[in-house]
Amino acid sequence: MRRRLCYRAGLMVQQGNAPHHSQAPVSMSACNAPTSLLVSRNTKEETMQAPAPAVLDDLKELEDRIASDVAAAGDEAALENLRVAALGKKGSVSERMKSLGTMSPEERKTMGPALNGLKVRVGELIAERRTALAAEALTQRLAAETVDVTLEPQAADVTEGRIHPISQVMDELIAIFADLGFEIAEGPDIETDDLNFTKLNFPEGHPARDEHDTFFLPERADGTRRVLRTHTSPVQIRTMLSKKPPIRIIAPGRTYRCDSDQTHTPMFHQVEGLVIDESAHVGHLKWVLQEFCKAFFEVDDASMRFRASYFPFTEPSYEVDIRCKRTHNGIELGTGDDWLEILGSGMVHPNVLRNCGLDPDVYQGFAWGMGIDRIAMLKYGMPDLRAFFDGDVRWLKHYGFAPLDRPSLAGGLSR
Ligand code: DAH
Repeated sequence: MRRRLCYRAGLMVQQGNAPHHSQAPVSMSACNAPTSLLVSRNTKEETMQAPAPAVLDDLKELEDRIASDVAAAGDEAALENLRVAALGKKGSVSERMKSLGTMSPEERKTMGPALNGLKVRVGELIAERRTALAAEALTQRLAAETVDVTLEPQAADVTEGRIHPISQVMDELIAIFADLGFEIAEGPDIETDDLNFTKLNFPEGHPARDEHDTFFLPERADGTRRVLRTHTSPVQIRTMLSKKPPIRIIAPGRTYRCDSDQTHTPMFHQVEGLVIDESAHVGHLKWVLQEFCKAFFEVDDASMRFRASYFPFTEPSYEVDIRCKRTHNGIELGTGDDWLEILGSGMVHPNVLRNCGLDPDVYQGFAWGMGIDRIAMLKYGMPDLRAFFDGDVRWLKHYGFAPLDRPSLAGGLSR
């Protein structure tokens, strides 16, 4: 009886006399055998031969199958499944590689390079397909993500968006003061106690500090406190500390005090004004404020009244009223026998100049502070300040301003 190895089945079967095995090759599914090659070592004559062409055919067949499967793999995931099925731990190629260990040296001589070559070629096929798939995916993405730059821009419905009256009034203020040669200055909403009070000549423990209903932040390790700025006046200090006179600035911005009713909200807006040079005087202050009021309220005559007052950072200090007439419809400005207070002002106190490193014998100047919300309410007849910050779109639709129509002295402040 002669024996031949049938690698196709991964199993040695006897061929020759045994009628039941005669010619037919044994298929893997038919013989329930382990996948490693079994070698009978009963006799000397049974020494392993070089692998029969059938074995190599089998490898060729496997390679062809893998190659056609790889070529058909439609995406990265399908390709990965094929890789695992061929080169993974239990893959078809890997299992055949394992069988090398059980082969005779001669057999291994042929099968080793054959299997290694298969492994390398299968690896290359998969890598090539992966590159091709990535290129295909990129091509598809580039085609799908094309931006048509020739598309007509969608015209925004400009009747829908509105400019908030506060923004509008700030723009109006800026247009007016820019025309008078003022720069815009800014400071932070969270301010040091020193800049909000001390440098502005509010002595420690002075009752004027309490009048400001300040929101204090927790005390820091070094004992200093920060506050939500109670007025825009600290921007005066920041400006004087950072630049040399002549100074002409306005500082519009948010301010905070613990107060709430129809004409007060915890957050509100002010605009500060400051002029410092060697010769600024009260006459200039009056003229600047008068010009501002005429332009802002859009009236030809804005007679004003300067009443003596007190602020720690000015000396003398004035509260300024504008002439008005109260009617059942509201307030008319510029005419009448009544007066309406609109701002605080004065000549900058020598202590404040000194606190900012300026010699009061050389420099002098004036300053004022005005509630933006208040003058907005007056100009546009809005009775309740709290509605400004309710975020009610119906209110904004009614009181808001047309976008893309910014105030300017040449084009008109308000429409
Ligand atoms: N800071 C003052 C306040 O909030 C307003 C003010 C008054 C500002 C007089 C000034 C000024 O610059 O000179 O009540």
